[in-house]
Amino acid sequence: MSSTPTLARRPKRRLLATAAVFGLVVSPLAVLTPMEPAAAATSCADAAWMDRSKTPTQRARALLAASTQHQKYRWLVEQPANSPQQTTFSGVTYPAQLDCTPTVIYTDGPEGVRADSGVTTFPSQISLASTWDTGLAHAKGVAMGDEAFDQRRNGILAPGLASARTPLAGRTPEYFGEDAVLSGRLAAAQVNGIQHPTGKRAVMAELKHYVANEQELDRQTSSSNVGERALREIYELPYEIALNYSSPANIMCSYNQINGTYACENKRLNNVLKNDLGFDGYIVSDFGAVHSTAEALNNGLDQELNRPVWFTPEKLDAALAAGQITQARIDEAATRVLTAYITAGLFDRPMAAEVTDGSTAAHKDLARMLAEDGSVLLRNDRNTLPLTAKKNLKVALFGPTASDTPTDGVSARTICSLYLPFGGGRNTMPCEDLVTPETAIRQVVEAAGGTVTWDAGTDLVAAAAQAATADVAIVFGYQRMGEFSDLPDLLLHGNGDALIEAVAKRAKKTVVVLQTGSAVEMPWVKQVGAVLETWYAGEQMGPAVANLLFGKVNPSGKLPMTFPKSLADTPARTDGQYPGAFSDGSTTRPVGSNEIRQVDYTEGLKVGYRWYAAEHVQPLFEFGHGLSYTTYHYSRLRVTPIASGKGKWSLQVRFDVKNTGKVKGTETAQVYLQLPSSAKEPAKRLLAWEKVTLKPGETRKVEIRLSAQDLADQRLLQYWNEKKAAWQTATGIHKVTVGGSYDTDLSAYSVVIK
Ligand code: BGC
Repeated sequence: MSSTPTLARRPKRRLLATAAVFGLVVSPLAVLTPMEPAAAATSCADAAWMDRSKTPTQRARALLAASTQHQKYRWLVEQPANSPQQTTFSGVTYPAQLDCTPTVIYTDGPEGVRADSGVTTFPSQISLASTWDTGLAHAKGVAMGDEAFDQRRNGILAPGLASARTPLAGRTPEYFGEDAVLSGRLAAAQVNGIQHPTGKRAVMAELKHYVANEQELDRQTSSSNVGERALREIYELPYEIALNYSSPANIMCSYNQINGTYACENKRLNNVLKNDLGFDGYIVSDFGAVHSTAEALNNGLDQELNRPVWFTPEKLDAALAAGQITQARIDEAATRVLTAYITAGLFDRPMAAEVTDGSTAAHKDLARMLAEDGSVLLRNDRNTLPLTAKKNLKVALFGPTASDTPTDGVSARTICSLYLPFGGGRNTMPCEDLVTPETAIRQVVEAAGGTVTWDAGTDLVAAAAQAATADVAIVFGYQRMGEFSDLPDLLLHGNGDALIEAVAKRAKKTVVVLQTGSAVEMPWVKQVGAVLETWYAGEQMGPAVANLLFGKVNPSGKLPMTFPKSLADTPARTDGQYPGAFSDGSTTRPVGSNEIRQVDYTEGLKVGYRWYAAEHVQPLFEFGHGLSYTTYHYSRLRVTPIASGKGKWSLQVRFDVKNTGKVKGTETAQVYLQLPSSAKEPAKRLLAWEKVTLKPGETRKVEIRLSAQDLADQRLLQYWNEKKAAWQTATGIHKVTVGGSYDTDLSAYSVVIK
């Protein structure tokens, strides 16, 4: 994989000409059967909107010019837009769509293509974020796009973007952690992969859920109350960066209110997304997140997800007759949807004739590689790891999630991907070809003549006794989470903390393998030799864990979010901040009330690492932290600012990294920047990074060039000036640091930007 983050700007939009396909909508709340395409009544070669010599916008306009008003309306709601020949949707009737229009089927992501079988269960997005590798994000996107095609799907509702405001947020594993630059760049790479024109297929990508959608608790009945500066710099910047390096077909607006107005009818859709950020795709609602007809349409919503509720022909006709909406806006919304479909190729590249299993050996290799590169070695006291498989080595495995054998319903499958409370509680992904840690570790150890035992650890005394007989005890600790609810605390599930403590008391050597979707507290951390965070590592978790523990692969993942010592240390620490409160001051919803929960983002910019640094709160493991079986030394940092025109700067950052250990390794060198004090930023922030692979003793001269365009596209030298309501380049002394994590900066350098 490319280790150097690519900084290619997005191509000018709407240049790709591409086509027609067929299907339906999959949502957690309604799973409908895909429809077969109706035979085209006329030759599509004659249809003006099929003329590939025209631009997508011209083709969209040609189609609308040939449409009746109610045919136009179809584009404004997912089901009628995407099933052109079906005429009735939940009792709402439309005329059939024009011929030569594709069937479209959306499918959920982002951890993979959500389907019941025939797809690869990749590691979760928080694991992908831990690779800090845009090349891997792109590769995962390409694989997802290919598998979507094989599943007869042509729109993936992914990737998602959020800011890890609280580690309790149920969907933390679906996102890229707490930094805007890392999140935005990885999302762009994944979007480009999903939409990659591979020749055979056309698939759309989506950014979701816009915006300040940072908790599951009352997600449909809460208001995220957040200041403009934090909105721009923390919550919207990932979107802005993703949009500067990719062109997703659509953006999904979220369930919550933003400062008292629902996201899907919020002025920010037009003012920020479409105007300021120049987004020219279409905005689609989350499932049931629309609350109005005129407000939603006028403020920028283009398509209602799923069935017609607010954008029905009846309601649109009435709003038009009452002068609440305009024909121009209806045409614009339809044009946006159509242009995005045409640009993505949905009109020109037919959908696969039938569903096939797209989980190839190459995709399984990629899943394993993602699990390896996404795992983070958090602690490795006195080289506890790597282990050496040898004759008579006795390995004792503990914890239900190491094995395929269920203990009270919990097994390795439980934490293969995110939890979904449907169908009796299952995973988002099928995890069909799971290779468990127990299987893979047995293979390695037994091949060398050693033995492996596994015990779920239900009986702590027995587990401790077993641990005492082994050379090494490996305890698997898990936390199950996902959409629809937040975590109540940051403790391991299934009595995991007690199991680790019991085992660690008696074992010669204790290794903890974490399988979590977010940060966890580790009251036992000093009692164990090593901690490896593998997140939800997907179907190839076993080989990945075995390769890492036994040193076949040297860990290189870095945390994309801070791990606090305790929940009490996190930024959203008061009730008003999380979970938010009601007018009577309580945090519990009054019985029968549909009052909006007020969630006050009073921490402002102090989200993630900014909080810990500004408040001098020592985290358990800081942002960017991740150990290796070797060590690195940083030196000779030099930063050269180059003025390039009025107020425009480019930056050249150079430094040396040396592998000072005994094995080859890959280090993610991180560059941070503290803006001048006049900018009033709470702490330094991520500027750039570079992944370097070094042999023992090797030194690499790293050079990161950030052009004026790079700096502007990621707002790297800027802050949001609330008085001027504009981004502003901070002038004065900027302090640049470099190192292997947020904390361990080994050199500092000051540059003056005038
Ligand atoms: C989720 C979205 C998802 C949608 C459609 C909603 O519950 O918030 O992420 O895309 O359902 O399945």
